[in-house]
Order: sequence, then C-alpha cells, then structure tokens
Amino acid sequence: MEQRKTLVELRGVSKSFDGDVALSNVDISIRDKEFLTILGPSGCGKTTILRIIGGFETPDSGTVSIGGAVVNGLPPEKRAVNTVFQSYALFPHMNVFDNVAFGLKMQKVPADEIRSRVEEALALVEMGRFVKRKPHELSGGQQQRVAIARALVNKPLVLLLDESFSALDRRLRKQMQMDIKHLQQDTGITFVLVTHDQEEAFTMSDRVVVMNHGRVEQVGSPRQVYEEPENLFVAGFVGETNLFDASVISCSPLGAGFRVEAEMGGRNCFLISNREYVPGEAVRVLLRPEDLLLELYEEYEAAEGRPVFKGHVVETVYKGTTYDVVVELENGSTVLATEFFNEDAESVSFRPGDELAVSWIEGWEVVLPHEEQSEL
Ligand SMILES: Nc1ncnc2c1ncn2[C@@H]1O[C@H](COP(=O)(O)OP(=O)(O)O)[C@@H](O)[C@H]1O
Ligand SMILES: [Mg+2]
Repeated sequence: MEQRKTLVELRGVSKSFDGDVALSNVDISIRDKEFLTILGPSGCGKTTILRIIGGFETPDSGTVSIGGAVVNGLPPEKRAVNTVFQSYALFPHMNVFDNVAFGLKMQKVPADEIRSRVEEALALVEMGRFVKRKPHELSGGQQQRVAIARALVNKPLVLLLDESFSALDRRLRKQMQMDIKHLQQDTGITFVLVTHDQEEAFTMSDRVVVMNHGRVEQVGSPRQVYEEPENLFVAGFVGETNLFDASVISCSPLGAGFRVEAEMGGRNCFLISNREYVPGEAVRVLLRPEDLLLELYEEYEAAEGRPVFKGHVVETVYKGTTYDVVVELENGSTVLATEFFNEDAESVSFRPGDELAVSWIEGWEVVLPHEEQSEL
C-alpha cells in the first residue's frame, strides 16, 4: 500500500482520571483512508483515545490534529469525525429512517437531500429494506448497521468504532467484520476501530496499534506485530508463545539484521535477529506454536547449528483444522506446538508418552532482550 498522508495525529497525549494515569505520552499517526485498529486489554486506554479524537474528552497534555489543524478544545460537532459507540445509542422511539436522518434534520438540511443521503447510507450497510422498523424490531447486528449508517450519513473524514462487534455472536461478527472492511474500502473513509480481540484486529486492519497500561507498545501491520513483535507483551497479546532462554556467544551483521551464535538448552546454535547483542548477554528466543517442528526422537537426524530439545508428549488437543501438542521438555518446561493432520494417518500422528525431538523452522525465531518486561 502506498504511503498516505497523515489525517489524524496524536502527539504526546496524556490523560489521568482522579490521579490515575489512563494515557501516558501517546503518539499515534493515522493515515488518510486507512483502517487502523487500537488493540489492547480492557482498561489500557483505548476508549479514552477514541473519546479524545472525537472531542468528548480533553487531554491533560499533548496535541490532537485532524487534517493538519490542531483541534484541542474544538467540540465534537465541529470535527469531521463520527463515533459509533459501544452501546449503539439509537433513539428507541424513532424508526430506522428517522434515526439516521436525525442529525441532518437538526442541521436543517433540505428534505430531499436528507432522503437521498439517508437512503445512500442505509444502502451501504444493506439496511434499505428496514426504514420503517423501530430499534427493538431489529437484531443486534442490524442495530449495529443502523448506528454505522447514522455516522456515515454525515460523510465524516474519520469514523471511530468502539468494540462494535463484541456483542455479536461469532458467525454474525465474522460477517460484519468483512462487510465493514469492504465498506471502508469502498467509501475511502478513514476507520479507527478499538478492540481487545486480536483476530478481529488482524482481519480488518491495515495497521494495528498495540497498547498496554496507557502506552503504545508497537505500531505495525498485522503481520509485523505477529511475526516481529517488539517485546513480550505484544508477542503474548497477539498470539501463543513459547519462550526459550539463551546466552549470546557472538553476534555479527547479516543482511539488514544480525546472526547470533548462542548457547541454548546446552547446545550451540545460530539465530537470526534484528537487534544487536553482546557476548554473554541473556536473551529470550520466542517461537510460535506453528514454528515448532516435532519428530519422533528415534527418527530425527542431528544437524549442526540446529538446536534440538528432547521431550515427551503430555497431551494432544483437537482444534478442527489442526491439533495442538503439549510437550514437556527435559528441563521440565512445557511448549505448545500446532500440527496439521497427516493426510494418510487416520488420526493425530503423536500420542501422549511419545518421545520427541523438538526443533523449529530456521529463521522463524524472534530474539528479544532478557530485560524485565511487562508480560501478560
Ligand atoms: N470518565 C472516567 N472517569 C474515571 N476513570 C476513567 C474514565 N474513563 C476511563 N477511566 C479509566 O481510564 C482507564 C482507561 O479506560 P478506557 O479508555 O475506557 O480503557 P479501554 O477502553 O481500553 O478498556 C481505566 O482505568 C478506566 O477506569
Ligand atoms: Mg473501552
């Protein structure tokens, strides 16, 4: 995707409530026409960020700009931003048409323009057939669509969505996620979604901002935050992790990164890293369950520079398209590996008690410093 100009910018934004820090020096640049998701656990400050962008909350310090102009102090109705709140906040006594038309009527927009804009907005969310219905005559997903139409009708530059899909059941949620992603692509409106659901963030977003305790931990594409997490918090929040301790023997430049020779589980091995480490430094090697390779110990062939841990299967867990294997290593630690079913095998290939050799797909490891980290 081409680099687009910045539409919304938060610079050094901090906010406390009654002395408790909700946001701490937050910098976020939101690009024109992108789908950006703010992802993090409950209470990390996601809603506060949306409220600050929307103008419902003022930062204690820092600046918010929209379209290059600082908007601190500008009331919500003067910003080219619309918010779809967590509770859809539809007027219960008004039908769908009047709910969507309400804001335009207040602005004294001519009646025929209101009609065409409301119809267009309802068509975008596929709710054109329901203009006469009252909110209580609609399903949760339909109410959600009306709430989005009510925001779209204002033709905002930015649409803010707060945990918009979490109340829907899984199937409907998946459908809404795809529909809203396509809607965003078709309209070219910049969307900012807040969620605690990593899968939702990955499905919908061009870029993800991972937050923890009022701070931005990492900004990147879904793939970057999953495959190149910058710290253990991000790694653990966006997926399952296996961690191994290692000690650096030597480190030399390799391409854009570094080749690290390290002692790991009693063996010397070679790792690829995007950071430089010094000899003697303690590091952590992070591997996703799908990165691990399992072989029956009696069948594996040792190869130089390829660390292999010995362990045994504790249990296997059926997951539908894959199965998980819980392996206890000789040092007592447990790792989780995801395996595909063998085409020819009638069931899973590994069984509790099997002696295994555990290695991984070369180069898929992430090496992180062994500093104190805020883990999950
Ligand atoms: N209006 C408020 N008054 C007092 N505390 C608040 C208010 N809004 C948010 N907070 C606090 O700020 C922190 C961040 O809240 P919030 O932004 O709602 O988090 P999230 O949306 O990520 O769950 C929480 O500790 C919350 O209790
Ligand atoms: Mg929230």
